[in-house]
Amino acid sequence: MKLWNKKVAGATVLTMSLLLAACSGDDESTDTGNNDTDGGGDDGASEEQEQVTITYAAGVDVTGATDILIDEFEAQNPNITVEYREMPADTGASHDQYVTMFSSQDASIDVFDADVIWPAEFAQGQYALELDRFIEEDGINMDDYFPGTVQSGNFNGRQYAMPKFTDAGLLYYRTDIVEEPPTTWDELMTMAGELQGEAGTEFGYLMQANQYEGMVTNTIEFIASHGGQVVDENNEVVVNSPETIAGIQTMIDIVNSDFVPSNILSFQETETNNAWVGGQAVFARNWPYMQSTSNDEEASEVAGNVGFATLPEGEAGSAATLGGWMTMINRYSENQEAAWEFVKFMTGVEGQTISAVEGGRAPTIEALYDEPEVQDAAALFANEQFVETLQNAVPRPVTPIYPRISDIMQVQLSQALAGEITAEEAAANMQEEMEAAMAE
Ligand code: GLC
Repeated sequence: MKLWNKKVAGATVLTMSLLLAACSGDDESTDTGNNDTDGGGDDGASEEQEQVTITYAAGVDVTGATDILIDEFEAQNPNITVEYREMPADTGASHDQYVTMFSSQDASIDVFDADVIWPAEFAQGQYALELDRFIEEDGINMDDYFPGTVQSGNFNGRQYAMPKFTDAGLLYYRTDIVEEPPTTWDELMTMAGELQGEAGTEFGYLMQANQYEGMVTNTIEFIASHGGQVVDENNEVVVNSPETIAGIQTMIDIVNSDFVPSNILSFQETETNNAWVGGQAVFARNWPYMQSTSNDEEASEVAGNVGFATLPEGEAGSAATLGGWMTMINRYSENQEAAWEFVKFMTGVEGQTISAVEGGRAPTIEALYDEPEVQDAAALFANEQFVETLQNAVPRPVTPIYPRISDIMQVQLSQALAGEITAEEAAANMQEEMEAAMAE
């Protein structure tokens, strides 16, 4: 199955590259590779032969799609070699490494994947290259992308990041155990408690409750599904509300239930995925990529037995946090043209098709959801409800001080989940600390 998919992806890449080549007249000469003199003439043709190596940094990819992306790009761009530098799976840990590197103007990375919450900060910190010039020269139509994903990469009217894939939290369930997935958090709790233990499972529910960014995304789902917000449309902190408190309380109840693993406070996406594909749970909250790992017949014990649904509703309905990854260029890269070629490939139709088919990653180019090959790759992509979930996903506050906001939430929520403070206290403390941070 996997092999067959790969072949299909390869064939499409070829067709698309022919199409793209036909309409782009790609004759830009590169001014990259200044470390490499080939002694040739100075016309575009010989410069194109210059060999350039770029370094691409991205988090651990359990789906294997990254290697395929790189191979395809290199096959089409024989003068560019891409070295993959693997970054931590934890987005916060990656973030901190990038900040350390870029703040000392380190040029060892050319291209990097950026969480949707970073571009504003990285643009303001002058870590990232503006991409408008390239976008214009290559005639890329940003209207082809979901608007929210384009906005995540835009700061003060300039585009610093190209949308690579989008994410929204989903409820996974075992179709061999569950007939109808729950629609409310209350139903989820009842069903998780009752069904835990069936078909060899150990747990009713898995989620991300470790103190890190992923926990913030889970929390926002609880808060928004109960009608609460962290920061409102006018950039006012509004986190101390009865709705938010109700959301946090639901999260506390689930984390302290006996249907989650006893070490749920150390669960990130990786732990969730591993336990899930190991057949240990009835329900799990994770991002779309888990559909791909779930159905990998070699590595998953639950292949063929996995369904997905929107996350359960609180008083205000169902809410999914908007996640996803962009691709950016290091402002200090010495290979900017080659870096752009790779960004353009990964975030364009060909690259996103590979990410969707091989990695289960949800495209940011809307039209790809109508492509039979993308639809065939995963049930999610052919599902209108899923595309709607993506479009309505709740963004995290967009501000260059987002890391501060996130830290405040992480600390307060961890204490609440551990029973050290109440949901009310967590909400009041978050309000006070966020207001102070925003006022600075
Ligand atoms: C996923 C999301 C990203 C989020 C992270 C949290 O990678 O795409 O936006 O910040 O999970 O762990």
